[in-house]
Amino acid sequence: MTARDPRRPLDTVPSIKIKLGVVIFAAVGVTVFVFWSGIHLGLWPSVSGIIAAIIALGIVRFLARGMTSPLREMSDAARAMAKGDYERRVTATSRDEVGSLARAFNKMAGELAETDRLRRDIVANVSHELRTPITALQAALENLVDEVEPPDPATLRTMLAQVERLGRLVTQLLDLSRLESGAVPLARAPFDVEPVLEHAVREQQLHAPGVDVSVVVETPGLTADGDPERVHQVVANLLENAVRYTPRGGRVEVRARRSADPLGVTIEVLDEGPGISDTERTRIFERFYRADTARASGDGGAGLGLAIAQWIVDLHGGEIRPERRAPHGCRMVVTLPASN
Ligand SMILES: Nc1ncnc2c1ncn2[C@@H]1O[C@H](COP(=O)(O)OP(=O)(O)O)[C@@H](O)[C@H]1O
Ligand SMILES: [Mg+2]
Repeated sequence: MTARDPRRPLDTVPSIKIKLGVVIFAAVGVTVFVFWSGIHLGLWPSVSGIIAAIIALGIVRFLARGMTSPLREMSDAARAMAKGDYERRVTATSRDEVGSLARAFNKMAGELAETDRLRRDIVANVSHELRTPITALQAALENLVDEVEPPDPATLRTMLAQVERLGRLVTQLLDLSRLESGAVPLARAPFDVEPVLEHAVREQQLHAPGVDVSVVVETPGLTADGDPERVHQVVANLLENAVRYTPRGGRVEVRARRSADPLGVTIEVLDEGPGISDTERTRIFERFYRADTARASGDGGAGLGLAIAQWIVDLHGGEIRPERRAPHGCRMVVTLPASN
């Protein structure tokens, strides 16, 4: 709260009712006092009455200052917001109900400004991510049309890779917006963890022949309570990263077990890549965040995989976090509720 404003004498009064009481009491008191003083001084009652009314009006104006101005400020600010200006704030020094409304209004304005900033960032990021493969495709197509390059399988494969990248990006964006809007509710049920992990690993092995990917389920017959399709998506996203950052000839392992954790089921994806530093620990879950350009270059994704994984894990009431591995590498730990 800012310092007391001498031009708002009743700012510290904590309730509108008390404020009105003070104003009415002061007005009546001053009117009576001035009126009788006037009569005693020998003024005509009508003249004394008019003087008393003018002075009382002045006192009311003085005392009531700042009681309604935040409301006017709020309606101005709301109109400005409707036009897209989220930077306006209103005076919130009063301690009564109008003051707390003004504070709530300012908080809401702050949150709207932040949401608006995020929205702009997302639009900028999405456009950038879409433009990169489109530019590459356009260049390749122009070369084909101008007969600079023959339509050989290699050129067509590069073009196909760009189309696939576009497709992947659009699917991820759709997934994220569906998850956020709650459009696809979780189909929650007890399910066997092992087949889900094995399915995700088999898919990944097709894309990463140079890396050895294996599954170890330490608790036989491990079951979790969740949506197996969504959990598959989480593991697939984690595996995609693990395989991408592990050098050729390296090993990636998926481990799962019933744990002492209150939630009950722990799934880990371990890789031999560069690992995730402490400063990146939380940022990697932000949309479009990529730890560094070197790592994200080439076939890197758009930085949406972990954001999606975190949404899904949150929907399950679970947790996801990266840990360091010695001597190098990353261990992504996901905890999910067990089925009892
Ligand atoms: N296993 C990992 N090892 C090292 N860095 C990782 C790993 N997984 C994720 N990261 C970092 O986190 C960033 C965000 O990951 P993600 O959301 O999956 O996006 P993307 O894979 O599309 O780049 C990656 O760009 C990478 O920098
Ligand atoms: Mg990824």
